[in-house]
Amino acid sequence: MTLLPDGARIDVTTGPPVGSPLYDAIGERHTNRGPFEDKPVATSTLVDLAGLSGVQVRWILDPEPRAAMSRLLIDAAAALCADEQQSRDNFAWFRGGNDDVQRHRDGLSLGGQGFGPLMLAVAKLLPASSREAGDQFWLKQTITVHTATAAAYGVITTNTPDDRATQLTAGRLLERIHLTAASQGIALHHMNQVTERIDRERSTGAVATFGPRFASLLPPGEQPLLTFRVGYPVRDGAPSPRRDVAQVVR
Ligand SMILES: Cc1cc2nc3c(=O)[nH]c(=O)nc-3n(C[C@H](O)[C@H](O)[C@H](O)COP(=O)(O)O)c2cc1C
Repeated sequence: MTLLPDGARIDVTTGPPVGSPLYDAIGERHTNRGPFEDKPVATSTLVDLAGLSGVQVRWILDPEPRAAMSRLLIDAAAALCADEQQSRDNFAWFRGGNDDVQRHRDGLSLGGQGFGPLMLAVAKLLPASSREAGDQFWLKQTITVHTATAAAYGVITTNTPDDRATQLTAGRLLERIHLTAASQGIALHHMNQVTERIDRERSTGAVATFGPRFASLLPPGEQPLLTFRVGYPVRDGAPSPRRDVAQVVR
């Protein structure tokens, strides 16, 4: 495997099968946007930094910082919905009905929202939701489900956020954590609205509000790259749309 300079490249050759618990968990790994149980997670068991440098994971577990992180995530979701361009960019990934899912084979679908079976059946019968309705739904879920039931938040941080190799390493660490969580029956939900708002404030030249608030929850000098919540799920996560192997492997 080579990561740079031309993007990640993986050459596949034949050989004897080598077992790995993370490989075995691939089929069980789904982003879970549903409610989590009120039960603590032993977060240290989720992280293996072997062979990965320049990144670390900070866990936000204690009630006070966890509540501050929840408020930050809710405020970032609200700011994102109020920003027409970001709202449009988000909505472009939403696949309202099965026709849309089959056409794109990517993005966010109703099946991946963590609904119970009744709610999912009702949602599938409704016409494709508007951008405004989708934003309101997401904001409400952020308040009443995502932040309300997070057992802990994880943040992958670094001192070199703009370095491409660091960014790829952070992605590999995230994948490891997600697969390890899946192998232990622990759910993970990516929540990147705060870093998206930090970038947005920077690129529009707005006053930095989210950067300083996030920094106050992290060790000095460390920059957040990826944010997620973990917990024991009330319901299993569901598979999301995928392209055919032939569409992505050359
Ligand atoms: C780098 C990265 C950032 C993501 N950020 C978010 C996010 O902020 N909110 C969210 O709901 N899902 C987020 N996701 C989850 C993707 O939407 C999800 O992986 C995709 O829908 C595929 O679903 P799956 O993980 O269940 O296979 C993120 C995923 C990655 C890899």
